[in-house]
Amino acid sequence: MPEKTLTITDNRTGQTYTVPIEDGTIRAMDLRQIKTGPEDFGLMTYDPAFMNTASCRSSITYIDGDRGILRYRGYPIEVLAERCTFLEVAYLLLFGELPTATELKHWVHDITHHTMLHEATKKFMEGFRYDSHPMGMFVSTVAALSSVYPEARDVHDPKNRMHQIVRLIGKVPSIAALSYRHNVGFPYVYPDNDLSYTENFMNMLWKMVEPKYVANPVLSRALDILFILHADHEQNCGTNAMRSVGSAQTDPYLSTASAASALAGPLHGGANEEVLKMLDEIGSKDHVPAYIKRVKDGQVKLMGFGHRIYKNYDPRAKIIKWSSEQVFQVTGRNPKLDIALELERIALEDDYFVKRKLYPNVDFYSGIMYQAMGFPPEMFTVLFAIARTAGWLAQWQELVTDPEQKIARPRQIYTGYNEREFVPMEKRAAASVPAR
Ligand code: ACO
Repeated sequence: MPEKTLTITDNRTGQTYTVPIEDGTIRAMDLRQIKTGPEDFGLMTYDPAFMNTASCRSSITYIDGDRGILRYRGYPIEVLAERCTFLEVAYLLLFGELPTATELKHWVHDITHHTMLHEATKKFMEGFRYDSHPMGMFVSTVAALSSVYPEARDVHDPKNRMHQIVRLIGKVPSIAALSYRHNVGFPYVYPDNDLSYTENFMNMLWKMVEPKYVANPVLSRALDILFILHADHEQNCGTNAMRSVGSAQTDPYLSTASAASALAGPLHGGANEEVLKMLDEIGSKDHVPAYIKRVKDGQVKLMGFGHRIYKNYDPRAKIIKWSSEQVFQVTGRNPKLDIALELERIALEDDYFVKRKLYPNVDFYSGIMYQAMGFPPEMFTVLFAIARTAGWLAQWQELVTDPEQKIARPRQIYTGYNEREFVPMEKRAAASVPAR
């Protein structure tokens, strides 16, 4: 059996070092011993955007991007989407095992009884401008919960942590629904404890004057499946923000707000909104070849395509495509689907996309389905954030209880001046920055 080590020769000094290889990685700190002399800080790695750096050990989500595999706690995403509810999957992510019938009953009861927002939170949200973007309202209100539950700062007490986790999973649909209703000018609808997680969310979004909201079962199941697909995705940009901010022992409300802020970006969870804008801009199937040309010329990106990890079809996009068929039977077919299918057909045959292994990601079809269900594009990333809250919190728990984790603090390669002599105001030359 060959030894699991790596031998490095530093050609600057001729010295040789042997460092252990564990789980296919070497420890970056093992490189620090490689020095040219006693004054030398030691060798570091340079990895902008974490292209080849593992930042943690995690037992939550497994992805094989080359083979298009996604598993939560060992269970294939396809099986979970078909057989589970979202809250069952949230339990799995957080506790590591699927719940028994009794465990699920208590879990659903706990979450259901934490859906109500404090009236102060409701008033806080009423202060947003009438046309505020729902994602901005969502992020700010999740952060504001930190002021309502200051005891959440004690992140070392497991019971306290679990209390905040239940609160967050319970309250994010209420915050999301209120963001929507504020944006469209409708009054707030209080949660209904008789309903399931997704039915209640739909109730808070769309109930008007009817005494009891009844969700269409096909649509509520489709939404539940979408939540399952979005629940976790290992160390993506938002989760990295959750872990980075959480590593300072910041409370879970502020950490979740940071993760949601990262998710809002158009290269991450904000892509679903951008896909719809792109399909609107393309307008019809006939304009697809011209748009693909613009993508290849580097003028625009094909939103909803490409992924840092998947170099094969995103398995979530496949499930969404399948699930959207059932939704369209209820809502009627979203005409944008034809443009999206044509984009996918042409892109998957084109050398530009084939060579770069660019496939549709989760955001390519989700927006079309959300729109058919009645959501405006500004809400798409908020829907993603509701589901991902479960994953963020599972990752946060793992972080807080991992003895190897410390405050996240990368190094840099300094490229600025060495020490300079101070220049008094009267001797300063005009700087070469553009005038304001
Ligand atoms: N359209 C056109 N070209 C693309 C696209 C795209 N959507 N994505 C990547 N490429 C090209 C790049 O220009 C680059 O080409 P080059 O080698 O000639 O320079 C090559 O493919 C590799 O792309 P990178 O940007 O290096 O890949 P990276 O892993 O850094 O980025 C990302 C991944 C951000 C997802 C990128 O594919 C992208 O911007 N996609 C569109 C936005 C999107 O859909 N985001 C959602 C991702 S899923 C999620 O976060 C939930």
